[in-house]
Amino acid sequence: MSDVSIEAARRRTFAIVSHPDAGKTTLTEKLLLFGGAIQMAGSVKGRKAARHATSDWMALEKERGISVTSSVMQFPYEDCIVNLLDTPGHADFGEDTYRVLTAVDSALMVIDVAKGVEERTIKLMEVCRLRDTPIMTFINKLDREGKPPIDLLDEVESVLGIQCAPVTWPIGMGQRLKGVVHLVSGEVHLYEPGRNFTRQDSTIFASLDDPQVEARIGAAMLAELRDELELVQGASHPFDQAAYLAGKQTPVFFGSAVNNFGVQLLLDFFVEHAPEPKPRATTTREVGPYEPHLSGFVFKIQANMDPQHRDRVAFMRICSGKFTAGMKAMQSRTGKEVKLANALTFMASDREIVETAYPGDVIGIHNHGTISIGDSFSEGEMLSFTGIPNFAPELFRRARLRDPLKLKQLQKGLAQLSEEGATQFFRPLMSNDLILGAVGTLQFDVVAYRLKDEYSVDASFEQVQVATARWIRCDDAKKLEEFREKNAMHLALDAAGQLVYLAPTRVNLQLAQERAPAVTFLATREHA
Ligand code: G4P
Repeated sequence: MSDVSIEAARRRTFAIVSHPDAGKTTLTEKLLLFGGAIQMAGSVKGRKAARHATSDWMALEKERGISVTSSVMQFPYEDCIVNLLDTPGHADFGEDTYRVLTAVDSALMVIDVAKGVEERTIKLMEVCRLRDTPIMTFINKLDREGKPPIDLLDEVESVLGIQCAPVTWPIGMGQRLKGVVHLVSGEVHLYEPGRNFTRQDSTIFASLDDPQVEARIGAAMLAELRDELELVQGASHPFDQAAYLAGKQTPVFFGSAVNNFGVQLLLDFFVEHAPEPKPRATTTREVGPYEPHLSGFVFKIQANMDPQHRDRVAFMRICSGKFTAGMKAMQSRTGKEVKLANALTFMASDREIVETAYPGDVIGIHNHGTISIGDSFSEGEMLSFTGIPNFAPELFRRARLRDPLKLKQLQKGLAQLSEEGATQFFRPLMSNDLILGAVGTLQFDVVAYRLKDEYSVDASFEQVQVATARWIRCDDAKKLEEFREKNAMHLALDAAGQLVYLAPTRVNLQLAQERAPAVTFLATREHA
């Protein structure tokens, strides 16, 4: 086997998805702890020490002079190299998250035991499911009272539409939390608050039949647990690797991230079962990870933390071959060969800039405005990966009229000015709004000035929930009508009377496209 295939096979590249506050950050820290990326004493006082560790991590990044704060965290675990890609935490569910999810091979969903499946989790899951991304589930905060575990599995199955295969099962919760049972190995792991930070044999038993388990949790609780397990095993699905890899089944773990309880069981199972990098589609052919030549795509661009330097870093997910510092690769969008100098890797425990990287890894390439999201880089042969949305910057505003009697003039002014091409004018099917699209904010000022000067209309422009526009084409009249009916809320006519889809978010657009395969969404009117 080549070093590329050996290295690719041990990569596990994933993202954690969750609703805010479910425990994504805490779990990330615990995973880094197992990877030796951060050090914590055995008697850690929760977040304080964790925060300290996080700031060490940031100091390390400062030393490198680049902001990669939790964008990509790489750490070794057992025989694997784990790449954890951060999904943006801000309130908008945007294209950033969507793009990060295109760069991973699997996802980990964190759910709060008391809150169950929350709104953001549902949206993130929709995205994972579009690509059949394999998902593991961690039900967190078991040290608090929450919903009955069986109800939680039901909720995941019915709300998220994915089969659950519990791998660990809680023994009590909240004040009564005693531990978890591993349903595959049969092992019992007991919970000892403050003591589960390192693996302790005194808390691990081979099976429920070990007399010490009864001694530790009591006969009544053991009997109750046995009844419950019988019920669970009857009602749920056993773990099925193929169903998990197909995104149809999620293995479920219970634990408490802040107490580091149940986390190692999750990580052990993760490195054993989560997928290694898989072949990916390009416009010309499928590219396998074991191929000797480098290929990859840019899924994220981040501004430098240092405001004095205006350069940015492009994050490239490697799909095949081996990266070595200073190598040359073709850039798909420009068709030119470029030198990939000064690339950064994100080995969390290592202060050295690593010189090589393999499929599943993410490298940071310095970018002085010549790299765009969605660009592919490949050695020798020109390859262009598909499925990474590249969004051109666009701005939209709603026209606000100071004198309502001037509506006719406003419409006329906007229509005529948009004919000049600098702005585009849309009338939604379902409202009386007048929406203007432009490439820069200055254009709105120009239009406002000209409306007043040339049409005697006093108008201003305000924010509107439109992220992008797509011109709609469909040869099948019936399908078009169906699409029109279903999506009327988001449809508008442009100045020429053409049908346009005004997407409130990029994700909404992506979903609309996936749901209407017969319809073509064109990014510009020129293509129409
Ligand atoms: P997020 O990244 O998903 O938004 O969640 P984060 O890890 O920041 O956790 C949100 C809150 O939940 C934090 O409390 C964290 O300490 C707490 N938490 C995480 N895991 C567990 C757990 O297993 N059990 C319990 N009981 N709480 C947990 P906070 O009050 O916001 O911060 P802090 O003051 O505790 O640091």
